[in-house]
Amino acid sequence: MLSYRHAFHAGNYADVVKHVTLSLILQALCRKETPFCYLDSHAGAGFYSLTGEFAQKTGEFKEGIELLWHKPEAQIPVLLKPYLAALRAVNKHSELTTYLGSPALAQYFTRPQDSLTLMELHPSDYQRVKKGFLNDRRIHVHQRDGFEGLIALTPPPQKRGLVLIDPAYEVKHDYVTVVETLKTLHKRWQTGVYALWYPLLQEVSYQEAVIRKLKNSGIKKIFRVELTRYPSDTPRAMYGTGMVIINPPYLLAESLTELMPWLWQVLSPESAGDWRVEWLVPE
Ligand SMILES: C[S@@+](CC[C@H](N)C(=O)[O-])C[C@H]1O[C@@H](n2cnc3c(N)ncnc32)[C@H](O)[C@@H]1O
Repeated sequence: MLSYRHAFHAGNYADVVKHVTLSLILQALCRKETPFCYLDSHAGAGFYSLTGEFAQKTGEFKEGIELLWHKPEAQIPVLLKPYLAALRAVNKHSELTTYLGSPALAQYFTRPQDSLTLMELHPSDYQRVKKGFLNDRRIHVHQRDGFEGLIALTPPPQKRGLVLIDPAYEVKHDYVTVVETLKTLHKRWQTGVYALWYPLLQEVSYQEAVIRKLKNSGIKKIFRVELTRYPSDTPRAMYGTGMVIINPPYLLAESLTELMPWLWQVLSPESAGDWRVEWLVPE
């Protein structure tokens, strides 16, 4: 039985890095008129209340989105403005009460011709995400295993698009499944953009195995971005956040390279940790 609920973690520093990256990819896909698809294998609830019991219990958003939210407009890098504009659109009175999960951001950054498929296994979060997007006919919500769903839906008819794989890794075998799934998907749809989230854990063998296997997979054009929030001797199990992007759109690498120093400085006020962007496998 799944127990992970993203509502406890919504808007934390890992979400911010992931969602900024997601918003940059989606904006890049919108540069061409032709429709694209967005496949989200681990969708979560879509929208999160930051005043609700779950978010208040951990307060993780206070070390994430809240640090950006109070920055004066003049200090916000241009590349970050669309992500914050998406959040401002649902937080009408400048008070930060709602955080947008990946499905809600994807809804914001896509156009009438695009199509979105959201997969979520947890019964409560499935009900929430289904209800949250009922009125948008572009959005299809499935209660199913996201790994199986991605393979069933690939290659998509649109031929262009983004796959977001964002498991909670509650099941440790997910570290194996993510790589196997990416290899299968890439064989079926070589031109898709794939974004995979992974935590930086004290037990480094997990993330290292994912990265090593992807490097050896034969897949080209693999980029990664990481932000280390805490020093590596922190007692916390997770000390940072990472994303692998396969087939990053034009200028994504440059945009992340420009943004990460600023993001790290804001998200890591004690200047602990570090950040990095690099090609794992070039073209
Ligand atoms: C990290 S959260 C997703 C957050 C979301 N992508 C976002 O950025 O807002 C992971 C979600 O995956 C769901 N989940 C876990 N295993 C799954 C599976 N095999 N297939 C689909 N969803 C799954 C969990 O219930 C949880 O809601």
